[in-house]
Amino acid sequence: MANLDILTREGCDPTQHIWSRRNFVGLAAWGTVLGSLTVGTVAFGRFMYPRVLYEPNTQVKLGKPSEYIVNQVNEKWIKDYRLWLVRVSDGFFALYAKCTHLGCTPRWLQAENKFKCPCHGSGFKGIDPSLGSPNITGINFEGPAPRPLERCKIGLAEDGQIVVDFGITFRMELPDPQKSWAAPNAFLKYGA
Ligand code: FES
Repeated sequence: MANLDILTREGCDPTQHIWSRRNFVGLAAWGTVLGSLTVGTVAFGRFMYPRVLYEPNTQVKLGKPSEYIVNQVNEKWIKDYRLWLVRVSDGFFALYAKCTHLGCTPRWLQAENKFKCPCHGSGFKGIDPSLGSPNITGINFEGPAPRPLERCKIGLAEDGQIVVDFGITFRMELPDPQKSWAAPNAFLKYGA
């Protein structure tokens, strides 16, 4: 009311300066329409945008076979890729360094020829030099681990380097020969 008095005193027409209820209702309606249009446009744009999943690359090259010693667990890649590259008399396999109990990273104890998990004491066998590809490496023999360590997919790239995919693993105990250690890609035949 005070504002109306001031405007009248100043010689102004209050109806030209104060918003009526109709003005507010109209503005609210326009606001709703514009808001809906904006939401609709954003939703449409999101729908049109391709939903591409950018998976991390799990394929890595690990050098030439000649760089590795026969009957040795190589620890060079454990920090970067969480795997051991093992060379036996007739080839290679890559052992995934994840304990099959609760997922800790075991340690390779060369002097004891075994992998030992620091979390709950599971042990996995090392290398038997008298065996080739059907080796005991990674088989659980003590502690709570319920099954052997997994092997990663392995092969040879065109440039002659060993290539490992640590995103694809094989489990010894599986009956399916395509998914077990017997799968062609679970072992790289070399040098026998
Ligand atoms: S996580 Fe390895 S023994 Fe438990």
